[in-house]
Amino acid sequence: MNDIVVSPSILSADFTDIKGAVREIEDSGAQWIHCDVMDGVFVPNISFGQKMVGDVRKLTDLVLDVHLMIVNPEKYVEEFAKNGADYITIHYESTLKIAETLKAIRSFGCKAGLAIKPNTDVLVAEQYLDLIDMMLIMSVEPGFSGQTFKTETLDKMKKFTQMAQGRNIILQSDGGVNENNVKAVVGAGCTSIVAGNAFFKSIDKQKTVSLFKGVL
Ligand code: DX5
Ligand code: ZN
Repeated sequence: MNDIVVSPSILSADFTDIKGAVREIEDSGAQWIHCDVMDGVFVPNISFGQKMVGDVRKLTDLVLDVHLMIVNPEKYVEEFAKNGADYITIHYESTLKIAETLKAIRSFGCKAGLAIKPNTDVLVAEQYLDLIDMMLIMSVEPGFSGQTFKTETLDKMKKFTQMAQGRNIILQSDGGVNENNVKAVVGAGCTSIVAGNAFFKSIDKQKTVSLFKGVL
Protein backbone atom coordinates (compact mmCIF):
# COMPACT_ATOMS: atom_id res chain seq x y z
CA MET A 1 0.00 0.00 0.00
CA ASN A 2 1.43 3.28 -1.02
CA ASP A 3 -0.21 6.61 -1.67
CA ILE A 4 2.73 8.97 -1.96
CA VAL A 5 2.83 10.83 -5.25
CA VAL A 6 6.19 11.92 -6.66
CA SER A 7 6.22 14.96 -8.92
CA PRO A 8 9.61 15.57 -10.58
CA SER A 9 10.06 19.22 -11.61
CA ILE A 10 11.12 19.71 -15.22
CA LEU A 11 12.70 23.01 -14.16
CA SER A 12 15.75 20.85 -13.33
CA ALA A 13 15.68 19.09 -16.70
CA ASP A 14 17.70 19.88 -19.81
CA PHE A 15 15.26 22.05 -21.82
CA THR A 16 16.81 20.87 -25.09
CA ASP A 17 15.66 17.35 -24.28
CA ILE A 18 12.26 17.60 -22.65
CA LYS A 19 11.13 14.45 -24.43
CA GLY A 20 13.97 12.54 -22.80
CA ALA A 21 13.11 14.06 -19.42
CA VAL A 22 9.47 13.01 -19.72
CA ARG A 23 10.54 9.45 -20.63
CA GLU A 24 12.85 9.38 -17.60
CA ILE A 25 9.99 10.51 -15.37
CA GLU A 26 7.66 7.87 -16.81
CA ASP A 27 10.27 5.11 -16.49
CA SER A 28 11.04 6.05 -12.89
CA GLY A 29 7.56 5.27 -11.58
CA ALA A 30 6.79 8.91 -10.69
CA GLN A 31 3.12 9.69 -11.17
CA TRP A 32 3.07 13.45 -11.79
CA ILE A 33 5.14 16.05 -13.63
CA HIS A 34 5.67 19.37 -11.85
CA CYS A 35 5.82 22.40 -14.16
CA ASP A 36 7.33 25.49 -12.53
CA VAL A 37 6.10 28.59 -14.33
CA MET A 38 8.03 31.78 -13.44
CA ASP A 39 7.55 35.28 -14.78
CA GLY A 40 10.59 37.17 -13.49
CA VAL A 41 8.27 39.43 -11.46
CA PHE A 42 6.76 37.29 -8.73
CA VAL A 43 10.10 35.50 -8.50
CA PRO A 44 13.55 36.58 -9.67
CA ASN A 45 13.74 33.98 -12.43
CA ILE A 46 12.03 33.21 -15.74
CA SER A 47 11.31 29.63 -16.73
CA PHE A 48 8.60 28.78 -19.29
CA GLY A 49 4.91 29.27 -19.99
CA GLN A 50 1.82 27.52 -21.28
CA LYS A 51 3.42 26.32 -24.52
CA MET A 52 5.82 24.10 -22.60
CA VAL A 53 2.88 22.64 -20.66
CA GLY A 54 1.00 22.00 -23.92
CA ASP A 55 4.04 20.37 -25.52
CA VAL A 56 4.62 18.13 -22.49
CA ARG A 57 0.91 17.23 -22.55
CA LYS A 58 1.39 15.78 -26.05
CA LEU A 59 4.16 13.52 -24.75
CA THR A 60 2.51 11.89 -21.73
CA ASP A 61 -0.62 10.88 -19.89
CA LEU A 62 0.95 11.55 -16.49
CA VAL A 63 -0.72 14.16 -14.29
CA LEU A 64 0.54 17.67 -15.10
CA ASP A 65 0.98 19.62 -11.90
CA VAL A 66 1.42 23.28 -12.82
CA HIS A 67 2.88 25.61 -10.18
CA LEU A 68 2.32 29.23 -11.17
CA MET A 69 4.87 31.65 -9.73
CA ILE A 70 3.49 34.63 -11.62
CA VAL A 71 1.67 37.82 -10.71
CA ASN A 72 -2.02 38.05 -11.58
CA PRO A 73 -2.43 34.33 -12.27
CA GLU A 74 -6.14 34.96 -12.91
CA LYS A 75 -5.15 36.21 -16.37
CA TYR A 76 -3.56 32.92 -17.37
CA VAL A 77 -5.28 29.99 -15.65
CA GLU A 78 -7.60 29.37 -18.60
CA GLU A 79 -4.60 29.14 -20.96
CA PHE A 80 -2.93 26.57 -18.74
CA ALA A 81 -6.15 24.59 -18.47
CA LYS A 82 -6.52 24.60 -22.26
CA ASN A 83 -2.96 23.37 -22.58
CA GLY A 84 -3.67 20.28 -20.55
CA ALA A 85 -2.84 21.10 -16.94
CA ASP A 86 -4.48 18.76 -14.41
CA TYR A 87 -3.58 20.72 -11.26
CA ILE A 88 -3.08 24.47 -11.31
CA THR A 89 -1.56 25.96 -8.17
CA ILE A 90 -1.51 29.70 -7.55
CA HIS A 91 0.37 31.63 -4.89
CA TYR A 92 -1.44 33.30 -2.01
CA GLU A 93 1.02 36.19 -2.33
CA SER A 94 0.50 36.68 -6.08
CA THR A 95 -3.00 38.13 -6.35
CA LEU A 96 -5.87 39.73 -4.45
CA LYS A 97 -8.33 37.56 -6.40
CA ILE A 98 -7.56 34.24 -4.73
CA ALA A 99 -11.05 32.81 -4.24
CA GLU A 100 -12.12 33.93 -7.69
CA THR A 101 -9.07 32.36 -9.34
CA LEU A 102 -9.41 29.07 -7.44
CA LYS A 103 -13.04 28.86 -8.54
CA ALA A 104 -12.06 29.64 -12.13
CA ILE A 105 -9.48 26.83 -12.10
CA ARG A 106 -12.15 24.34 -11.08
CA SER A 107 -14.60 25.74 -13.62
CA PHE A 108 -12.07 24.90 -16.36
CA GLY A 109 -12.09 21.27 -15.20
CA CYS A 110 -8.79 21.34 -13.28
CA LYS A 111 -7.90 20.71 -9.67
CA ALA A 112 -7.11 23.88 -7.75
CA GLY A 113 -4.03 24.37 -5.59
CA LEU A 114 -2.93 27.13 -3.24
CA ALA A 115 0.76 27.75 -2.48
CA ILE A 116 2.45 29.71 0.27
CA LYS A 117 6.03 30.95 0.52
CA PRO A 118 8.18 29.96 3.55
CA ASN A 119 7.40 33.17 5.46
CA THR A 120 3.64 33.13 4.93
CA ASP A 121 1.50 31.93 7.83
CA VAL A 122 -0.30 28.69 7.04
CA LEU A 123 -3.43 30.03 8.75
CA VAL A 124 -4.12 32.16 5.66
CA ALA A 125 -5.23 28.94 3.96
CA GLU A 126 -8.10 28.37 6.35
CA GLN A 127 -10.62 30.49 4.48
CA TYR A 128 -9.93 28.70 1.18
CA LEU A 129 -10.25 25.09 2.31
CA ASP A 130 -13.53 24.59 0.46
CA LEU A 131 -11.98 25.86 -2.75
CA ILE A 132 -8.80 23.81 -2.95
CA ASP A 133 -7.82 20.27 -3.90
CA MET A 134 -4.19 20.77 -3.00
CA MET A 135 -2.10 22.89 -0.63
CA LEU A 136 1.53 23.52 -1.60
CA ILE A 137 3.89 24.52 1.18
CA MET A 138 7.15 25.91 -0.16
CA SER A 139 10.17 24.71 1.76
CA VAL A 140 12.54 27.09 -0.10
CA GLU A 141 12.06 30.63 -1.42
CA PRO A 142 10.42 30.17 -4.82
CA GLY A 143 12.55 30.92 -7.85
CA PHE A 144 15.26 28.30 -8.15
CA SER A 145 15.79 24.59 -7.85
CA GLY A 146 18.64 23.11 -5.88
CA GLN A 147 18.19 25.14 -2.67
CA THR A 148 18.40 23.81 0.89
CA PHE A 149 15.19 22.61 2.58
CA LYS A 150 14.04 24.96 5.35
CA THR A 151 13.31 22.63 8.28
CA GLU A 152 11.10 25.18 10.01
CA THR A 153 8.48 24.65 7.28
CA LEU A 154 7.78 21.17 8.68
CA ASP A 155 5.76 22.79 11.47
CA LYS A 156 3.55 24.53 8.93
CA MET A 157 2.96 21.22 7.17
CA LYS A 158 1.92 19.63 10.46
CA LYS A 159 -0.38 22.57 11.21
CA PHE A 160 -2.01 22.29 7.80
CA THR A 161 -2.47 18.53 8.21
CA GLN A 162 -4.41 19.24 11.42
CA MET A 163 -6.35 22.11 9.89
CA ALA A 164 -7.48 20.07 6.90
CA GLN A 165 -8.27 16.87 8.79
CA GLY A 166 -11.25 15.03 7.28
CA ARG A 167 -11.03 16.95 4.03
CA ASN A 168 -9.89 15.62 0.71
CA ILE A 169 -6.95 18.00 0.23
CA ILE A 170 -3.53 16.84 -0.91
CA LEU A 171 -0.59 18.41 0.91
CA GLN A 172 2.41 18.99 -1.33
CA SER A 173 5.97 19.89 -0.32
CA ASP A 174 8.12 21.79 -2.78
CA GLY A 175 11.77 22.71 -2.53
CA GLY A 176 14.89 20.97 -1.33
CA VAL A 177 13.32 17.59 -0.64
CA ASN A 178 15.85 14.78 -0.88
CA GLU A 179 16.48 11.22 0.27
CA ASN A 180 17.54 12.43 3.73
CA ASN A 181 14.54 14.62 4.61
CA VAL A 182 11.69 12.97 2.70
CA LYS A 183 10.69 10.86 5.73
CA ALA A 184 10.18 14.00 7.83
CA VAL A 185 8.15 15.60 5.04
CA VAL A 186 5.89 12.58 4.72
CA GLY A 187 5.71 12.39 8.52
CA ALA A 188 4.41 15.98 8.52
CA GLY A 189 1.51 14.88 6.33
CA CYS A 190 2.67 15.53 2.76
CA THR A 191 1.43 13.01 0.23
CA SER A 192 2.69 14.76 -2.89
CA ILE A 193 6.41 15.44 -3.09
CA VAL A 194 8.06 17.67 -5.66
CA ALA A 195 11.59 16.68 -6.60
CA GLY A 196 13.79 18.84 -8.80
CA ASN A 197 17.45 18.18 -8.26
CA ALA A 198 16.86 15.09 -6.12
CA PHE A 199 15.32 13.50 -9.23
CA PHE A 200 17.30 14.89 -12.14
CA LYS A 201 20.69 14.58 -10.45
CA SER A 202 19.97 11.04 -9.30
CA ILE A 203 21.85 8.31 -11.15
CA ASP A 204 19.18 5.73 -10.23
CA LYS A 205 15.88 7.56 -10.69
CA GLN A 206 13.75 4.49 -10.12
CA LYS A 207 15.43 3.95 -6.78
CA THR A 208 15.02 7.61 -5.79
CA VAL A 209 11.32 7.53 -6.63
CA SER A 210 10.83 4.25 -4.73
CA LEU A 211 12.58 5.79 -1.76
CA PHE A 212 10.36 8.87 -1.91
CA LYS A 213 7.29 6.65 -2.11
CA GLY A 214 8.48 4.78 0.96
CA VAL A 215 8.77 1.51 -0.91
CA LEU A 216 12.49 1.20 -0.12
C1 DX5 B 1 11.17 26.49 -6.80
C2 DX5 B 1 10.26 25.50 -7.49
C3 DX5 B 1 10.52 24.07 -7.09
C4 DX5 B 1 11.92 23.61 -7.41
C5 DX5 B 1 12.17 22.24 -6.87
O1 DX5 B 1 10.72 27.78 -7.04
O2 DX5 B 1 8.91 25.77 -7.19
O3 DX5 B 1 9.55 23.24 -7.70
O4 DX5 B 1 12.19 23.61 -8.77
O5 DX5 B 1 13.52 21.92 -7.07
P1 DX5 B 1 14.38 21.26 -5.90
O6 DX5 B 1 13.69 19.99 -5.52
O7 DX5 B 1 15.74 21.06 -6.54
O8 DX5 B 1 14.41 22.24 -4.77
ZN1 ZN C 1 7.38 24.22 -7.81
